[in-house]
Amino acid sequence: MFNILVTDKVSEEGLKKLYAHKDFIVEHQPGIAPEDLKATIGQYDGLIVRNQTKVTKDIIEASGNLRVIARAGVGVDNIDVDAATRKGIIVVNSPGGNTISATEHTLAMMLSLSRNIPQAHKSAAAGKWEREKFKGVELFKKTLGIIGTGKIGTEVAKRAKAFGMAVLGYDPYLTEERAAKLGIKKATLDEIAAQADFITLHTPLMKETRHLINEAFLSKTKKGVRIINCARGGLVDEQALLQALQEGRVAGAALDVFENEPEITPGLLELPNVIVTPHLGASTREAQVRVAADVSDEIIHIFESEEIRNA
Ligand code: MLT
Repeated sequence: MFNILVTDKVSEEGLKKLYAHKDFIVEHQPGIAPEDLKATIGQYDGLIVRNQTKVTKDIIEASGNLRVIARAGVGVDNIDVDAATRKGIIVVNSPGGNTISATEHTLAMMLSLSRNIPQAHKSAAAGKWEREKFKGVELFKKTLGIIGTGKIGTEVAKRAKAFGMAVLGYDPYLTEERAAKLGIKKATLDEIAAQADFITLHTPLMKETRHLINEAFLSKTKKGVRIINCARGGLVDEQALLQALQEGRVAGAALDVFENEPEITPGLLELPNVIVTPHLGASTREAQVRVAADVSDEIIHIFESEEIRNA
């Protein structure tokens, strides 16, 4: 029997194949403390996490029999992949399970930002009727800069085009042909800074992308740009963003992710043009079932393969 530990809230419906499989025992310990995980990880063959559990080098080094770490989602930045690889542990994820949910959340944030929906809701619910205060801007005929045109960036582009937006895409892997096929324009970061009315981020967090949106970038953006980040907090230097917002260079920001979750850089929430959600991009019933089912399939496949059985 293989023992699989689940340490974050992962859809039980999505894990049903794993529960039903005769070779696996699945145990849930959501919210387990790091020291307890380190003390017990040696008893497990597989670990399933979402994004709360930090699978550090320490934990990986304490894991005697662990064969697989599965991330029910896309980003593996909460897992020390190098340490896992050194120990021969396979790291798997669900690259596409939450694409649509993250895309739809991005569009929801862009629309909420352009029409001040959270602020107007709060005001109307408090009995006020402030129609002038919450006048917004249209997306129609505006330019959207998409930084990262992978799965989510591509789906965002398709929907933005349906709103009548001109779309610029920056991605080292975006070819002219692919851009033409999507009906978007391949651009440099500087071109996006100079031309975009809205900028949305869809890249993984790596050392090359940390603080991609920093003071230098923000000093080149069009006055009144609006920034949406539903990807990873570390992509944006929150201090630099705060300053650009305070100086009115950036007209608004919609943030679903933060550098030090669950903390939000002091000052951001005091601004009337910043809207936030608590990392909800992938939080739909459908996406959570899909990502859990994807990692269940991966785990079953890995343990059923000769390679692992004989290892
Ligand atoms: C991801 O990388 O897939 C997201 O952070 C999803 C999540 O919230 O688990």
